[in-house]
Amino acid sequence: MLDRIEELKTKAISELSAITDSRKLEEWRIAYLGRKGALTQILRGLSAMPVEERRALGAVANDIKALLEGSFAQRQQAIKEAELARVVAAGRLDVTLPGYPSPVGRLHPTTQMVRQICDAFVAMGFQVVEGPEVEWDYYNFEALNIPQYHPARDMWDTLWIDYTGPKGERNMLLRTHTSPMQIRVMEKTRPPVRVVVPGKCYRYEATDATHESMFYQVEGLAVDENISLADLKGTLFEFARRLFGPERRVRFRCDYFPFVEPGVEMAIDCFACEGGGCRLCAGSGWIEILGAGMVHPDVLRRVNYDPEVYTGFAFGVGPERIAMLKYGIEDIRLFYGNDLRFLRQF
Ligand code: DAH
Repeated sequence: MLDRIEELKTKAISELSAITDSRKLEEWRIAYLGRKGALTQILRGLSAMPVEERRALGAVANDIKALLEGSFAQRQQAIKEAELARVVAAGRLDVTLPGYPSPVGRLHPTTQMVRQICDAFVAMGFQVVEGPEVEWDYYNFEALNIPQYHPARDMWDTLWIDYTGPKGERNMLLRTHTSPMQIRVMEKTRPPVRVVVPGKCYRYEATDATHESMFYQVEGLAVDENISLADLKGTLFEFARRLFGPERRVRFRCDYFPFVEPGVEMAIDCFACEGGGCRLCAGSGWIEILGAGMVHPDVLRRVNYDPEVYTGFAFGVGPERIAMLKYGIEDIRLFYGNDLRFLRQF
């Protein structure tokens, strides 16, 4: 029995000295000192022995137990230190290494375009104001000469808000254009008015390469005494040259919008083919870039501007469309598809 104990001691000590990690160390502790470990078994076995033998063996076994426990504690400490040293060494910061470049963000192409457009008008004395994206029927349609049931409403496929007013009316919507801000601005101020209104618009739209259900517009409005169509043409001509180059020519043609009279559409000569005709301008040499017109007298009357004293012009530009023309982007859905490969090009 004494031999067995001695043998156990030698084996345990030699195994312990080979251990270098805490997982193995724990296995060793369980194997020798655990409740079902080898030494514990021996100590338990002693109870069946005659008293004399038990006393002698018991003393030896207890000594060995103390020895193993002491060695274990030492080894545990050493391993802990070694492991800490390893972690520290692995995590050491080499301050001479080159840094990681942090990715630099950029402005969304629409944001850049909206700013360019606004800047062009700010340079001509316009103020930038913004309005709500959730609108009342009154501002989006009624006040702009687009009464309920009038066929002109078909020009704007509307997303209605699920809301019913006190009289059962469904009159809240996502603005289909920025034009309602013409009314809001005029209700609050007296002429002279010169504002541009950038912002998001929404339409109930089957999306395709040229239609999105959310897009931007920049609205413009100038009202004062003696404002004529010549002022509209001069201002928008200057805008076209600022955005598309000083050599640009412009063309105005009649168009219809319920809130202006006369209504016009402005085109610029195609900057890709210099007017000769190409894919960008669909062979015509001209590219339409905005709608505009002289503010309708009924619109002025509605906000208590006397149309005999005041006249004005208004316009609406689509920044995505301008960006598409300027940069040759073929699909409007790219703008809000969040593909960084697209966005990083601007
Ligand atoms: N609001 C029009 C639209 O969304 C664009 C427009 C046309 C605005 C003529 C104007 C304007 O201010 O005079 O189609």
